[in-house]
Amino acid sequence: MQDELNQAFRLDGRVAVVTGAASGIGREAARVFALAGARVVLGDVNEAGLAESVAAVQAVGGEASARRTDVTQRAEVDALAEAAVRAMGRLDVWVNSAGAVTYGAVLETAEPELDRLTNVNLKGTYWGCAAAARAMQAQGAGSIINVSSTGADSAGAGLSVYAMTKAAVNTLTRTCAKEFGSFGVRVNAVAPGWIDTPMANTRFRDSDGEIDPELRERGLRDRAQASPLGLTGVPRDVALAMLYLASDAGRFVTGQVLRPNGGASMP
Ligand code: NAI
Repeated sequence: MQDELNQAFRLDGRVAVVTGAASGIGREAARVFALAGARVVLGDVNEAGLAESVAAVQAVGGEASARRTDVTQRAEVDALAEAAVRAMGRLDVWVNSAGAVTYGAVLETAEPELDRLTNVNLKGTYWGCAAAARAMQAQGAGSIINVSSTGADSAGAGLSVYAMTKAAVNTLTRTCAKEFGSFGVRVNAVAPGWIDTPMANTRFRDSDGEIDPELRERGLRDRAQASPLGLTGVPRDVALAMLYLASDAGRFVTGQVLRPNGGASMP
């Protein structure tokens, strides 16, 4: 019985690509997938961070390779998928975790900032879905996981561009689920609440760019209050939700947005 349950969540023999894998949620997803038996291929613009993530995977006995990839460039995303298939022989799971955030009122947002976020969060996810599905179509199976946000569910002053891109990721997820289902590829999103990563801590930096411990403590308290559980999240909370979607345990699940957010939003 226990073996049967373990098996449902295992990824032995499978290959997973994770973008945004140099940090935060992407790094932890790579580590958890490796713990579940997958070989992982990591993409990010941050090469030093990628090297640390490869080491983190190897530290748990996993096999990882990395490739510098800017997800805003379609050719680079395609090359990441092709390199994974060439090196590992197959592609079973693809996580679009590369992302960026910006804060600013609609009346003050400059066009380059809007373009930057749209390119990373939306275009990067779009090309990721396309490259993954192309490779998975030949196998007739696969699982694509996009990273949305609780921010897509509710209006937050100052978060217009970020929330807009993440709402679009939810819609893209459903469209891809419809288009790719006929060849066995599932497409889902996770929409995390506040997760303790470098990105989430940008809000707590002082004018020198250092994290202000008081600001952070207050910020965490406020965010925990948004959760009926009184909790904030860590990358592992999201990575384990991703494991469910990536593995056979999630075989009947597609076109869904799973919210590891402590109940911060319940649309
Ligand atoms: P993070 O900042 O720790 O990691 C994001 C990674 O994306 C970084 O390694 C960065 O180099 C990479 N990246 C940025 N632009 C890129 C590009 N053009 N090409 C390739 N890689 C690029 O942040 P975190 O928190 O791990 O974020 C991961 C995802 O989770 C993002 O999509 C974010 O929007 C989403 N998210 C995070 C939440 C949080 O509270 N941390 C909450 C909800 C969603």
